[in-house]
Amino acid sequence: MIVVIDGPAGSGKSSTARAIAERLQIQFLDSGALYRVATLVYLESLDSRASFFDRLKESDISFYFKSKKFHSFLNGVDVSEEIRKMEVSNNVSKVASHPDVRAHINSLMHAEVEKDVYIADGRDLGTAVFPDATLKFFMVADLEERAKRRLAEMKEEGLEASLKKIKENLAARDHADSNRKSDPLKQAEDAILINTSELTFEEQVSQIAERIRQILPENNH
Ligand code: DC
Repeated sequence: MIVVIDGPAGSGKSSTARAIAERLQIQFLDSGALYRVATLVYLESLDSRASFFDRLKESDISFYFKSKKFHSFLNGVDVSEEIRKMEVSNNVSKVASHPDVRAHINSLMHAEVEKDVYIADGRDLGTAVFPDATLKFFMVADLEERAKRRLAEMKEEGLEASLKKIKENLAARDHADSNRKSDPLKQAEDAILINTSELTFEEQVSQIAERIRQILPENNH
């Protein structure tokens, strides 16, 4: 069973989905992290003769959720921190816009959600990847608010960044993610809209968790 939260970069999808997964004891899947791992493969391929797609197909991408953290691995190496670097953020929309990359990441995700009850966050999960998801949410927030949250998150992780740079990056990604040909960021018709600009984190988690709780199988209550 799968519940999806889509929305623009920095809208709080990932931290909200993680907190919900922890609260409801279900699995969490961070689809953006997988596109970021693919971007690492892309950046590595710039220094080598092998083509990016060949490298991507040969790469072993794995992941798991534990203690509120989504861990991602590239060829056995934990890259969970590396994928948050600005160089990755600046290239990920371009890499993710390619249909072959999307098909590859989508097949990894489909195989995974067969195994358990999942909440996943992304851009096109409700429209393109899991159109039959049991429940869909679309989360939005003002650009200024999103940039402030991302800065706080990065500081907590010990990463350096400026508010101005983050705002530029988020605005550029909003544009690229919403206007790409292949599965753009878009609210699914049957998704529930959640605007978090004026909600506290606890409020947004509770609102969504309550709706999910109502449709969970008995053994997840
Ligand atoms: O959620 P995030 O910021 O880590 O996502 C990184 C990028 O991955 C984002 O700019 C667009 C892309 N992405 C996507 O194209 N489709 C998804 N389902 C999730 C992310």
